[in-house]
Amino acid sequence: MQGEKGIVCVTGGTGYIGSWLIFRLLDHGYSVRTTVRFNPENEKDISFLTSLPGASEKLKIFNADLSNPESFAAAIEGCVGVFHVATPVDFENKEAEEIVTKISIDGALGILNACLDSKTVKKVVYTSSSSAVIFNGKDVDEMDESFWSDMDYAKSLKSNAGSYIISKTLTERAVLEFSEKHGLEVVTLIPSFVVGPFICPKLPSSVLSVFDMVLGEKTESSSCLDLVHVDDVARAHIFLFEHHESKGSSRFKLNGSKLPCLSSKKLLDSGFEFKYGVEDMFDDAIKCCKEKGYL
Ligand SMILES: NC(=O)c1ccc[n+]([C@@H]2O[C@H](COP(=O)([O-])OP(=O)(O)OC[C@H]3O[C@@H](n4cnc5c(N)ncnc54)[C@H](OP(=O)(O)O)[C@@H]3O)[C@@H](O)[C@H]2O)c1
Repeated sequence: MQGEKGIVCVTGGTGYIGSWLIFRLLDHGYSVRTTVRFNPENEKDISFLTSLPGASEKLKIFNADLSNPESFAAAIEGCVGVFHVATPVDFENKEAEEIVTKISIDGALGILNACLDSKTVKKVVYTSSSSAVIFNGKDVDEMDESFWSDMDYAKSLKSNAGSYIISKTLTERAVLEFSEKHGLEVVTLIPSFVVGPFICPKLPSSVLSVFDMVLGEKTESSSCLDLVHVDDVARAHIFLFEHHESKGSSRFKLNGSKLPCLSSKKLLDSGFEFKYGVEDMFDDAIKCCKEKGYL
């Protein structure tokens, strides 16, 4: 049975945001295809996805890897929309920054080419990151969508997140350029730190980092500690897919903190309403960590 709103594809279904977005899309009446990296030597337990409400009729799992950009075509064929959420994450610097960035950009462009070839995809929502904005070296209180992280400044920080900052910034730029060049409608969404409950089995790195920062065990190289609830992140992805009309490309910030350094004005002006405050983010994350035995 096909969901009444059509078929959409979510890349990176095993991740924190990807899995929560799938949960919400099924709930909203979509049929969902998601891509997962299969490893024959280490089979993943994806029962947390296949047991979601509605999944048995409306969720299909595909095998695709950003290192093989053509591998997403089968999942995207026949979809009305694509949410490109997957990203290589390498905070331990196992790979050179150039390799991580190449995988991220080539994978994203492979996905966008598959969207063009499909002739059915009407819009792509790309999950960017505040990392693509805040590392700009400028001393300002509030940043809007015109700010971009500066690559020389990001490199000078010598942070473990260096390859993440650079790959997210250059991939978002490449995605927006592709959209302009080929007339494919693309919206990029820029979440700040994502906190809240999770359905994936692994404790999400952003939830862990925020707990560490709040408990004073870690300091970030940026003074920004803007937060957003994972359910608002999923709701904003769906909102921009369903409601935002634009020819070409647009960039939107997503930040649920009361005193943000990342401004969500553009998103709020377009009609999005946040449902959760900081207290909900922590209450829901702590409750979920307790239920899953992390606390
Ligand atoms: N969490 C945050 O605070 C936050 C904030 C702003 C933006 N974001 C963005 O949101 C997106 C999701 O982040 P997340 O927190 O949900 O991260 P996550 O839990 O680490 O999920 C990352 C996903 O990407 C997949 N992936 C990694 N490398 C891949 C590759 N080579 N090919 C295919 N898939 C690959 C992972 O698959 P495996 O399970 O196989 O590794 C996983 O499904 C990312 O684009 C991230 O930049 C996150």
